[in-house]
Amino acid sequence: MELVAAKGIWKSYRETEGKLEILKGLDIYIQQGETVAITGESGSGKSTLLHILGLLDEVDCGEIFYKGELLDTRSIKSDAFRNSKLGFIFQFHYLLEDFTALENVALPNFYLTGNRKAAEQKAAELLARLNLTGRGSHYPNQLSGGEQQRVAVARALINEPDIVYADEPTGNLDQRHSTELVDVLIELNETRGQTFVLVTHDQQIAGRMQKHYILENGVLRIR
Ligand SMILES: Nc1ncnc2c1ncn2[C@@H]1O[C@H](COP(=O)(O)OP(=O)(O)O)[C@@H](O)[C@H]1O
Ligand SMILES: [Mg+2]
Repeated sequence: MELVAAKGIWKSYRETEGKLEILKGLDIYIQQGETVAITGESGSGKSTLLHILGLLDEVDCGEIFYKGELLDTRSIKSDAFRNSKLGFIFQFHYLLEDFTALENVALPNFYLTGNRKAAEQKAAELLARLNLTGRGSHYPNQLSGGEQQRVAVARALINEPDIVYADEPTGNLDQRHSTELVDVLIELNETRGQTFVLVTHDQQIAGRMQKHYILENGVLRIR
């Protein structure tokens, strides 16, 4: 089933000298249960594209469909939609330093349901699944970089999003932790059918995804 489709996406940024065209009529179709890699030169618009797909930024022109339904990216209650349907993982994990690993993971679910106990129970299960048993009561600064990023993955997954967008999630990790993180994403895809769209500059990681697109001259081409 087609989960997300973006058609004819145009996006530019205003500069003092004029317009900087980033995306130029880009199309992408993402199937449920797929793993998709997007690579491309620095500045080619990868983060811009993820932000648009994740409804964090508006387009100049173009349409985004979710399960076949046209999204009105302006009037949609994007916050609620994002929090329940979409997950995000960034290069820098943005964990809240004053909250434990367990609380960081539980928070988005607590916002969604208002049930703190159930949220923490779910968070504990996810932490276990990501090999973080025993780390729940640690604060972010008491965790290694790889562990912090796995906590961020757990946080992205807690509301059982249909799709997770990851922007260079291994960009800040060494080789071993980077491989471990990608192993976890692939396992989650295989066992839960979790859909992932991953931006990376690592060709080896991109090669582990089912589809690999290159963003070039404002459009995607399949590799
Ligand atoms: N908010 C913004 N205002 C102006 N220019 C921006 C903004 N965000 C990104 N850009 C520019 O758009 C281009 C694409 O950025 P980005 O999507 O971050 O690229 P990538 O993630 O592929 O490195 C870059 O040239 C960047 O400088
Ligand atoms: Mg980027």
